[in-house]
Amino acid sequence: APSDPDLVERARAAKAKLGEKVFVLGHHYQRDEVIQFADVTGDSFKLARDAAARPEAEYIVFCGVHFMAESADILTSDAQQVVLPDLAAGCSMADMATAEQVAECWDVLTEAGVADVTVPVSYMNSSADIKAFTGRHGGTICTSSNAERALEWAFQQGEKVLFLPDQHLGRNTAVREMGFSPEDCIVYNPHKPNGGVTAEQLRDAKMILWRGHCSVHGRFSLESVEDVRARIPGVNVLVHPECKHEVVSAADHVGSTEYIIKALEAAPAGSSWAIGTELNLVRRLAKAHPDKQIVFLDKTVCFCSTMNRIDLPHLVWALESLADGKVVNRIQVDRETEHFAKLALERMLALP
Ligand code: 13P
Ligand code: SF4
Repeated sequence: APSDPDLVERARAAKAKLGEKVFVLGHHYQRDEVIQFADVTGDSFKLARDAAARPEAEYIVFCGVHFMAESADILTSDAQQVVLPDLAAGCSMADMATAEQVAECWDVLTEAGVADVTVPVSYMNSSADIKAFTGRHGGTICTSSNAERALEWAFQQGEKVLFLPDQHLGRNTAVREMGFSPEDCIVYNPHKPNGGVTAEQLRDAKMILWRGHCSVHGRFSLESVEDVRARIPGVNVLVHPECKHEVVSAADHVGSTEYIIKALEAAPAGSSWAIGTELNLVRRLAKAHPDKQIVFLDKTVCFCSTMNRIDLPHLVWALESLADGKVVNRIQVDRETEHFAKLALERMLALP
């Protein structure tokens, strides 16, 4: 549906009043009505860098989810304030690893005698607490666009990797890009005693995968790939690495949201594509490339409900409050957490 013209006008006016003071970041999964006001759009990696590169902006309005706003707060100066237009915009995957559970896991690894040779690698989609844990134990953060480089780096530092919290990105990267076999990976389940793994399994494994996943990408199945291939002969299947291993293995191309956008820009006119990622982005891409056939990989619709929490009314409210000198929904990571989380994030930003 087209956005409410009154709200569009109000967002425009508030933004104009704020001028250089405000910088609006928009993740690719945001609604069209929100993305039209983003000063930059990007995947998690690009947005983290863009936030850090804007020291003159007093306010960073983050149109994305909570962990992204936290990362922006960590990477910007103390004088800059990060605002998340709706505090209910979380990420179910990030919520699957709590600081307590991860501390317990580290105890299990210590008991098994493997903690000393294990390097934590945490996906950007994790809380600031988990990033701080990662920094404290010599690890790095990664995103879906640099997971391979992060793992290469980690295996130069130690013998094993504890990959948090997305088991699929961890497994897909280890098996597809690093040449590990699926048997080199074990899954640590925080809801089972000792993670549901034995000390011997921990000693044998190369990759210890946290049992987390994205509920949006988890819905794509091998069947959806087979279906679309039967329906559209010659279709190119392009999926995000948060999809299950069997889906990624059956796909033609795999990559982050930014990669997906670039791949479609480079695709020849007349080509057909089935995309396995969030629906707002897929719809936008289909509209942007009328000369190509671009379809959603699954038959049922699949938005990220928390990304969708950020809508135009929330954005208008945040911008108008800021224009009135009132900071709302500020995301602020405490100093100690920030210190260690920043260590981990900086290791990521320094990856070759
Ligand atoms: P990227 O934007 O890094 O590809 O990540 C997708 C995602 O699920 C973010 O929550
Ligand atoms: Fe989290 Fe998945 Fe939504 Fe990304 S798409 S924010 S991983 S729930």
